[in-house]
Amino acid sequence: MTTVLFVTSEVHPLVKTGGLADVSGSLPPALRALGHDVRLVLPAYPQVLARCERSLTLIKLIDLPGVATPVRVLEGVLPDTGVPLYLIDCPTYFDRLGGIYGDGTGDWPDNPQRFALFSRAVVALSQGWPGLGWKPEVVHCNDWQTGLIPALLSLEEHHPKTVFTLHNLSYQGVFPWGTFVELGLPMALWSMDGLEFYGRMSFIKGGLAYADLLTTVSPTYAREIRTPVFGYGLEGLIEARADRLVGILNGANYAHWDPISDPHLSCRYSSTDLSGKATNKTALQRRFGLPVRPKVALLGFIGRMVEQKGIDLVLAALPDLLQHPVQVVVLGAGEQVFEEGLKSLVASFPTQVAVQIGYDEDLAHLIEAGADAFLMPSRFEPCGLNQLYSLRYGTLPVVRRTGGLADTVVDATPENLASGRATGFVFGAATPVGLTGALMRALHLYYNDYSTWQRMMAVAMAADYGWDKSARSYADIYQRALDKRVDI
Ligand code: ADP
Ligand code: GLC
Repeated sequence: MTTVLFVTSEVHPLVKTGGLADVSGSLPPALRALGHDVRLVLPAYPQVLARCERSLTLIKLIDLPGVATPVRVLEGVLPDTGVPLYLIDCPTYFDRLGGIYGDGTGDWPDNPQRFALFSRAVVALSQGWPGLGWKPEVVHCNDWQTGLIPALLSLEEHHPKTVFTLHNLSYQGVFPWGTFVELGLPMALWSMDGLEFYGRMSFIKGGLAYADLLTTVSPTYAREIRTPVFGYGLEGLIEARADRLVGILNGANYAHWDPISDPHLSCRYSSTDLSGKATNKTALQRRFGLPVRPKVALLGFIGRMVEQKGIDLVLAALPDLLQHPVQVVVLGAGEQVFEEGLKSLVASFPTQVAVQIGYDEDLAHLIEAGADAFLMPSRFEPCGLNQLYSLRYGTLPVVRRTGGLADTVVDATPENLASGRATGFVFGAATPVGLTGALMRALHLYYNDYSTWQRMMAVAMAADYGWDKSARSYADIYQRALDKRVDI
């Protein structure tokens, strides 16, 4: 049994911008089910305080640089899981309207101060204090917001082991040198082997350079980030530490994402009775105001509208594709240029394309259940969760061969169809032509060989990407860190 402090900037169901929240809400309970004492810590954003209010007690006041008043450490429980939860409550930095990383106009300008303060509070918590009665053996940090923690802990004489998980290398937390000075960070951390990155300070390097072990969220992404295309200038450091880097696939939380029991759906279904899927398709077409056409192929897309997700490829590929009988529903928010592009596509093809801009959890479940195929043509995808959900919902994913998409979707090649392994449609080139090719293969099968399509649905729905296996891999990583077996 290992004691682990799991550090994250978002967690489902309290606060979520993307897959990190899903992982943070699912991996700690899965590890606890294996017998490990895992506890969560995150900033006390207002929505988190509102949801947890009744379970919270104040356990400590700590003085930290950067704020005039002491920072409160609160203790509660992550709803529906029993996972103990610590909240770092500093209203100056966390009690504000808007998103957790910024508002419509961009990132919060004081993000380095916010996450440096959070990190310092976590360092204090990870070393324990009289009366806390708990001390982690391992501190598990996630993404750049927590990158300073392994760096700061490395300077302490007795400190827990650190594991740093990389969910997305394209968000690095890079700020001017002046920020490093202003934050009052120890000069010992300022070197090209430390936080310095081409004359600026990099939060993510704190994790990459100082953590005892590194993980990322799929085996393929673990290989990709060692190359310049995916490494964004950090490939050298990652290569140098490759013996401490492991790719562990994310899981899907089937308690939330399984059509057999999905509480968001009014009509549930399973691979042995797919009639409910047809009902969800009708509901989805109605919800988006599209003509109800049971036999027309319906494609779904859910995600942040940024280049990573290949939304530009979707925009470029759709006008030609829409010459065929096909409907497309899109849910997401992000860069204005993509939102506008989608709106003009809706204006040109009002009976075939419908878009909802914004974040809507109910609708995300209905899209997974009601669509025939799921579009995920990401340029890069560390793991991706929506393709895992799509597989379980029998909504065949159309994906680019990268990161976790390459590791989880089996292309409908003649060989894979013959051996009964195919679960989706995979393409290589990150171009509109590449995506169109995969979509045309999908439409061809849908309209000309629906029984094969149905067989693929059954294989996809039976695939098991539950958290149990991945949680065991994380438990091994913790043990390896504790055994000092850090080299593979
Ligand atoms: P990423 O973390 O890169 O955004 P993932 O596929 O790992 O991508 O996870 C995205 C998660 O966020 C999924 O649970 C997905 O359903 C959810 N999501 C993304 N955009 C929206 C949205 N607009 N409305 C509801 N859920 C969304
Ligand atoms: C990131 C990645 C996504 C991954 C998620 C959770 O946001 O973009 O691929 O699934 O983190 O690890």
